[in-house]
Amino acid sequence: MPDAKLPPPYPAPLRPEIESLGTSGIAEVFELGLGRKDIIPLWVGEGDQPTPDFICEAAAAALKSGETFYPRKRGIPQLCEALARYTAELYGVAMASERISVATSGMTAIVLALQAFVRPGDEVVVVGPVWPNIVSAVQIAGGRNVDVILEPLPEGGFHPDMDRLFAACGDRTRAVFVNSPGNPSGWIMPAEDQKTLLAFCRRRRIWLISDEVYTRFVYDRPASERPTAPSLLTLIEPEDPVIVINSFSKTWFMTGWRLGWLIHPPAMAETIDRLIEFSFSGAPPFLQHGALAALEQGEAFAQSIIERCHIAGDLVHQRLAALPRVRLARPRGAFYAFFRVEGLGDSMAFAKELIETAKVGLAPGSAFGPGGEGHLRLCFAGTPETLSEALDRLEPALR
Ligand SMILES: Cc1ncc(COP(=O)(O)O)c(C=O)c1O
Repeated sequence: MPDAKLPPPYPAPLRPEIESLGTSGIAEVFELGLGRKDIIPLWVGEGDQPTPDFICEAAAAALKSGETFYPRKRGIPQLCEALARYTAELYGVAMASERISVATSGMTAIVLALQAFVRPGDEVVVVGPVWPNIVSAVQIAGGRNVDVILEPLPEGGFHPDMDRLFAACGDRTRAVFVNSPGNPSGWIMPAEDQKTLLAFCRRRRIWLISDEVYTRFVYDRPASERPTAPSLLTLIEPEDPVIVINSFSKTWFMTGWRLGWLIHPPAMAETIDRLIEFSFSGAPPFLQHGALAALEQGEAFAQSIIERCHIAGDLVHQRLAALPRVRLARPRGAFYAFFRVEGLGDSMAFAKELIETAKVGLAPGSAFGPGGEGHLRLCFAGTPETLSEALDRLEPALR
């Protein structure tokens, strides 16, 4: 629902794109539970512990040692180089650090990418259900989102229909936005589909934004083998019209740091540099030193939480799948159970009710756009013990 317009005496109107922005349905339930200690919070996508000490200490040391001046716009060189090495190791591809720009969060990285090429009235085809901030960012940039909904499967889960995706791309399409592993669906785009989509975008000269912030959260192999979801990074040439988004938030429990990065064609470096200059003018340098420690010393931590999410995801799946009204597929990626509840008409009202009755915070499916209603999203980036307790509390309401 759009928020009320600013009342007089403000010099109305605001830009129409801003006037018509709705509130995030996730934020709406989250705010209801703010400050309440009696609720198990599983509504937002983050871990249950603070950032590991060694990362905080690296940032604190940098702060104390005077890393407090304006930084290089696209990220301190050490961090960009470490990100290039990390990418090369993880995906087995050569990566030049000039293709990497650090942003103040994955969210900001998305905003920069869209700002770079969305013109007023351009269409951005977004594969959903999807994290609602992406759609709002398209709208704020002056674009129009065209939603292509993954096909829901009767047993729960989703399946992509590539023909529908291509059919949604018309003359005004400027970009396709894909988030895989997907929030909220846990869906993973197969490499074959990525190849077809890349060929389509090359042919039609359409940008492809690939949001890969959950790339490490896949559960088909042990985390010690460092598996990732299929990534556009293994398919693209440097000059392809592709931007890959990533973030420190999820893999190292750094949601509050607001640090992410983009991988873009080398020719875009100057444009991104300017967009950063004229917005946030560079991420705080001392925080970037914390991020450097995450990359250089944080692999054991990352693997331990990915393994924990694997165990927690199995537990949540097993418990929810046993309930007759609940339909869900085993989450293959990311760290959410996105489940359908038979007979559920208003997921927002139900999520609010669950705060009071079950004292568990879930995100309503309706927050994730078309295809989301009738579902609830539960974040399983917590301990199996807490999740068991949450499921004990939820079961009576979901039966
Ligand atoms: C799909 C997706 N992309 C991007 C982000 C951005 O993460 P952050 O802004 O914390 O880096 C999120 C966060 O929840 C997400 O779910």
